[in-house]
Amino acid sequence: MRFPPAFLDEIRDRVPISSVIGTRVAWDRKKTNASRGDYWACCPFHGEKSPSFHCEDKKGRYHCFGCSVSGDHFKFLTELDGMSFPEAVEKIAEMAGVPMPVRDEREERREKERASLTDVMEMATAFFQERLQSADGAKARAYLRERGLTSATQQSFRLGYAPDSRNALKEHLAAKGVPKADIEACGLVRHGDDIPVSYDWFRDRIMFPIPDSRGKIIAFGGRALAPDALAKYMNSPETELFHKGNVLYNFARARKALAKGGTVIAVEGYMDVIALAQAGFENAVAPLGTALTENQLELLWRMAPEPVLCFDGDKAGLKAAWRAADLALPSVQAGRSARFALLPEGKDPDDLVKADGPDAFRAVLTEARPLVDLLWMRETAGGVFETPERRAELGKRLNELASRIRDESVRYEYQQVMRERVRSFFGAQRDTRQNRQDGGRPGERGHGKAAAPGGQFAKGGSGRIAITESLGQSALVKRGGDGMSVREATIIVALVNHPALIDENFEHVEFLDLANSDLRKLHAAILDAMAHDAADERGAVIATIERAGCGGIWERAVELIKRARQWPALETAALDDARDAFNQAMHLQRSARTLHRELKQAQAALDADPSDENFRHLVEIQAQFNDVQATEALIEGFGVSSGRVGRV
Ligand code: UTP
Ligand code: MN
Repeated sequence: MRFPPAFLDEIRDRVPISSVIGTRVAWDRKKTNASRGDYWACCPFHGEKSPSFHCEDKKGRYHCFGCSVSGDHFKFLTELDGMSFPEAVEKIAEMAGVPMPVRDEREERREKERASLTDVMEMATAFFQERLQSADGAKARAYLRERGLTSATQQSFRLGYAPDSRNALKEHLAAKGVPKADIEACGLVRHGDDIPVSYDWFRDRIMFPIPDSRGKIIAFGGRALAPDALAKYMNSPETELFHKGNVLYNFARARKALAKGGTVIAVEGYMDVIALAQAGFENAVAPLGTALTENQLELLWRMAPEPVLCFDGDKAGLKAAWRAADLALPSVQAGRSARFALLPEGKDPDDLVKADGPDAFRAVLTEARPLVDLLWMRETAGGVFETPERRAELGKRLNELASRIRDESVRYEYQQVMRERVRSFFGAQRDTRQNRQDGGRPGERGHGKAAAPGGQFAKGGSGRIAITESLGQSALVKRGGDGMSVREATIIVALVNHPALIDENFEHVEFLDLANSDLRKLHAAILDAMAHDAADERGAVIATIERAGCGGIWERAVELIKRARQWPALETAALDDARDAFNQAMHLQRSARTLHRELKQAQAALDADPSDENFRHLVEIQAQFNDVQATEALIEGFGVSSGRVGRV
């Protein structure tokens, strides 16, 4: 049994080594200084007349100047008393009054279990691969061919096919002697108290095995073949082996490819990773349909100091990029940051390399902008900074952003750069006002002249970074207002689509505090349905919404949810997933609303009494508020898709 080092340290620290040795030797009175924990004796390991054996409690070690033995508590007992190491540990633990660790045994058992589970996952992978080549795989093979994946690519990613059967995999594994419990622990079947006979988790899907950092398969993603399938993609559930927030698809291979140079590229989907690999970009990874997490960002940084994060060129993609920027910002360090690439609108990397070849994607990478540009763009887009007050406000916002950086030297650099940019930006503004007088379209936000072709990250003339029209006009850049937030829409849409959540949370639902007035109307309709006992069935809730004349609002809310890729709130999602998304949104909602109120109070308090204390309080609340917004932003960014929607 292996003992945790911390446990060994603890018991060694608690037991003076002199009390271990003191039972076997007589201390020399003259040389010993017990108050200093300094002991001498005749060496028990070799016969002697004058004491040259020394031990010191502070160090927890003994040494004989005669025969050169030395060691610690455990060594003394094993060498002199012939105990085994575990016996010695047990003895010292007993003297220390510390119970022996049982956890470690369990940990060892779990380690073994994990190993056997990865064996099962390997069998499943081989099974799916084999099925893809079999007669029932014909449709899947045709599909993959049509999507342009060569058989070499299919093999190297170990793609497979889960047949349209409720028990093909289950029976295959059972026939190989895999215990039912292992099949369940691998997340390969749906099972539970409400399911009389467990059945295969993946059916009629193209299978993407998900390897861990050492290349062992720990989960699957499955893409539906049928166009009308409830969920396009499904992942394995969370298991002992698989925690999706800690995994990047293709991590191991990408890391290997990086040995040849280049940086790691984070894209959105499995298909993107694979199509890119086939097009020669073997260094791409993807999160698994979830928001890019802090852990995943750390994984990216373990691979390369400046990963390129790749986003769709539409509004949702841009928003996702900003969210990722907020996530990365506090953790940047000297030489450790991220770059952001935006794809042409409506195309993912897979579409792009297929339609326009690898060079088109290379161009996207070349245009990737550093983090600092992205933040600058976000803060300045849509703004006209004609007055000193507005400029000062911009400066303040940028400075606040920079102050989130934990690394002191990088923080300082950001503050400098932002100040310089504000200065040159105002030059650009003046130019633009002149342009306007020369016939520029009135009423338009500045910098139209900077709308360079080829991407939204355009550089203005004379090296100034300026903002393109498309960005400036984007509704995304409008701050504040009464817009529908994804968070609030998630809450409402999940409730309506999964009325079980209404029942489970009826107290919270009753007192829901929403900022958006349209969503408040939907909320009122839900309350109405509850009052009329019509809130336990989706159709009835929708009917109440429609009767209230809110059908249009409902559609807009659902649209927003789809755009933000919040699949778990949709009707097709499994209740468990909807519940997760709902709880998460509620949690953020409560924090945000409470903080919002507190922020107002703190502001009022400061106005009434401009004391240091009130100021500090305001700053503190503001920081918390920013944190919540950043978290929320992140979630909105990539969507909280769990991927396991569509329980049938
Ligand atoms: P996309 O919808 O962009 O799909 O989802 P894709 O990767 O382009 O796939 P193809 O080209 O249609 O086959 C991107 C990622 O979001 C997750 C998956 O991880 C997918 O790779 N996703 C998508 C889900 O988890 N569930 C879904 O229902 C859809
Ligand atoms: Mn795609």
